[in-house]
Amino acid sequence: MRSQDVRKQFLDFFASKGHLIVPSAPIVLKDDPTLMFNNSGMAQFKEYFLGNGTPKSTRIADTQKCLRVSGKHNDLEDVGFDTYHHTMFEMLGNWSFGDYFKKEAINWAWQLLTEVYKIPKENLYVSVFEGNPDENVPFDQEAWDIWKELIDEDRIILGNKKDNFWEMGDQGPCGPCSEIHVDIRSAEEKALVSGKSLVNNDHPQVVEIWNNVFMEFNRKADGSLEKLPAKHVDTGMGFERLCMALQGKTSNYDTDVFTPLIEKVEQITGLKYTSNEVLNISEEQNKTNIAIRVVVDHVRAVAFAIADGQLPSNTGAGYVIRRILRRAIRYGFTFLNTKEPFINQLVAVLANQMGEFFPEIKAQQQLVTNVIREEEASFLRTLDQGLQLLENVVAETKGSTVSGTKAFELYDTFGFPIDLTALILREKGFELDEAGFNAAMQEQKNRSRAASEVSTEDWSVLIPGNLETFVGYDQSESDVKITRIRKVDSKKDGVLYQIVLDNTPFYPEGGGQVGDKGTLVSANETIEIIDTKKENNLILHFAKKLPENVNAGFVAKVNQDLRSLSSRNHSATHLMHQALRSILGTHVEQKGSLVNPNYLRFDFSHFAKMTEAELQQVEDFVNARIQEQLPLVERRNIPFAQAVQEGAMALFGEKYGDEVRAIKFGESMELCGGIHVKNTAEIWHFKIVSEGAVAAGIRRIEAITSDAVKAHFASYENTLNEVKAALKNPQDILKAVHSMQEENAKLAKQIEALVKDKVKNLKAGLIAEIQEINGVQFLAKQVDLNPEGAKDLAYELGNLGNNLFLVLATADQDKPMLTCYVSKELVAEKNLNAGQVVRELGKFIQGGGGGQPFFATAGGKNVAGIQQALEKAIEFVR
Ligand code: ALA
Repeated sequence: MRSQDVRKQFLDFFASKGHLIVPSAPIVLKDDPTLMFNNSGMAQFKEYFLGNGTPKSTRIADTQKCLRVSGKHNDLEDVGFDTYHHTMFEMLGNWSFGDYFKKEAINWAWQLLTEVYKIPKENLYVSVFEGNPDENVPFDQEAWDIWKELIDEDRIILGNKKDNFWEMGDQGPCGPCSEIHVDIRSAEEKALVSGKSLVNNDHPQVVEIWNNVFMEFNRKADGSLEKLPAKHVDTGMGFERLCMALQGKTSNYDTDVFTPLIEKVEQITGLKYTSNEVLNISEEQNKTNIAIRVVVDHVRAVAFAIADGQLPSNTGAGYVIRRILRRAIRYGFTFLNTKEPFINQLVAVLANQMGEFFPEIKAQQQLVTNVIREEEASFLRTLDQGLQLLENVVAETKGSTVSGTKAFELYDTFGFPIDLTALILREKGFELDEAGFNAAMQEQKNRSRAASEVSTEDWSVLIPGNLETFVGYDQSESDVKITRIRKVDSKKDGVLYQIVLDNTPFYPEGGGQVGDKGTLVSANETIEIIDTKKENNLILHFAKKLPENVNAGFVAKVNQDLRSLSSRNHSATHLMHQALRSILGTHVEQKGSLVNPNYLRFDFSHFAKMTEAELQQVEDFVNARIQEQLPLVERRNIPFAQAVQEGAMALFGEKYGDEVRAIKFGESMELCGGIHVKNTAEIWHFKIVSEGAVAAGIRRIEAITSDAVKAHFASYENTLNEVKAALKNPQDILKAVHSMQEENAKLAKQIEALVKDKVKNLKAGLIAEIQEINGVQFLAKQVDLNPEGAKDLAYELGNLGNNLFLVLATADQDKPMLTCYVSKELVAEKNLNAGQVVRELGKFIQGGGGGQPFFATAGGKNVAGIQQALEKAIEFVR
């Protein structure tokens, strides 16, 4: 059965049981500060379990792109070494939100596996939660009784909290679960060892394929469990493992999910992958296999993350993606001998394979390829540099153990992987001080953990069951009550209170636009709201203190001035997006956006630096729309399909509901939840202040509008006036500047000629001062020249004869500088090195430098040290 059909049959089956089939949510989560990536099918439904929102249907099924590479569920380091863990995998899931419970969930799971997929019953084992007295959760008798009707009792296994109580993270919805395991070993192996004894024992062919979680609890901040308002079902089946079982394979990598990618790697590298059926492979082949698995696994995670809008970067989720890609590059580099970018070529295969079900990968194939190629090239350069640095470290190492701190520096500053360091050292006959490395690593982790420590208390609920309404599109003030409060203490921000209201005009950060600020005002007090953010379905208002009386009635007032500045920048962003697409082409797509009261920043896909003319065209286009005074046409709650059909721009990696809000100014139409001007005339004027690259094929524009443009021009005018005054108020500033430049060039020429003369004069005197020491012509002296003059002088003296060792010091414009010249013979025969000389002597002038063995210079800060440096110079020839 082809993997496409496996997926389809799952969805068809649950559709036939009354489930609404929804698309996979993007891999990168936007509104959930507790999770970096979607790590399970249920993550996008978390709010429904907690009772903070209402699902479109009480029965839903889908296949979800998941990443388990950070936080509670992290498989990254296992990937490649075994045959059934992945960074990205698809999780097939069905959900009941307060609808059906254990009976239906278990019976349907069994029916699908045994009747539709026709997995032989004797290959299946199931597990049931044994209970945990400490948590006060009993043995799951109900699940046991349901299973007993379907399967022999000796195929039901009791599992502990680790295996049979599922939690998404340290806090949040959770519950006992019942897993289904499949035994795909050969008949002979089964006869020797019972499958039951291998369940949950990391056996590669007795693996969990499906987890049915019965969500009943919420794990609170203090670690205790509370009952959820209703009972739910959350299931997750590993798609790749299911394909393995159904395709009669013993490794996920031998299924058609991976074989096309593997074939491509074989074709590029000329190496062969051996399937799991091939036994007794060489050590060398095993390494090749591991590396190929790493590459074909990781490219999926990285490609889909980029397609969902997460570019590799140096922080947060972007950094995790960068590290995954680097792990793949590094395995290729070491074990597949790939010294040029190659992983990017797999994107085409992936798009071909998965593009039908996940159109985002097909639509963004080019961009994803470019970004990966560029990352590969840049990391390969780093590896090259790292190899050189490692050579230096080895050269400086006394004995046979290389310092762990040095290896950590390589890792931390240059991203040079530690396992590669260890491997290379081993090949050179050195050892790595691993304890030292681990200590340095631990120290850094402690530092960053301390910096990111956050303690979040549980909510205290003042008004239960309330679903907050957002009224901010129509009002900037509203009468409100506080419904819940939570205290959050973090190293970064100190103590903050998060306040939820029954209704709110405050816009929570989203779609690039920053959250509103403002106040909560009651008869007796005023509380400052310093920020507003969304968490799942709640709008959180951040305050440094709580009101004395939290039960009072308040007026929530948005700071209108700030909001209005942001809204101008937001509307201008839409117009600029339209301008870019019409001027550069429709390949332009939004890849990131920030809108605040001061400026707007917009990242978009485009392959080349924009020309001055293009930037001007974009500015003109936007300013023309501003002058046309286009009114805002806002359409709320229109069906997604209709909005897109009418031409609204939707973004990859955004999660849209069935009903969306569309924002229109003239021909510009985008799906957007942000706050906008009522008429483009409010933007007043639009000005681009910078354009540059953020990643391969991604450009960034920063621009300003309204008051900021006035301030921008005012500051330019100011500077211009100051320049004019400094030039003594000429009639024509430009002409005055040009003539000053000409004058300058003339003077520079004159100085050059004068210095040449001076060098000639000095030369005669200095020749007389040269001493012979140990057969070396030695001179160390301070001269009154600029650096170029000192260089000329050094070469002039050097050309006179052999065996010269010269150190000249200058202090031109109070900047100390050492210039060292060493004749070729001395470099070769006496092992003298000008670079080393200036590095040593540079210490006296508090500076450093370098150059070639025969000529080098060092600049410094301490003029007073020149004398000492010159005195020390003689030691090199002594
Ligand atoms: N949420 C459950 C899991 O990920 C189904 O295993």
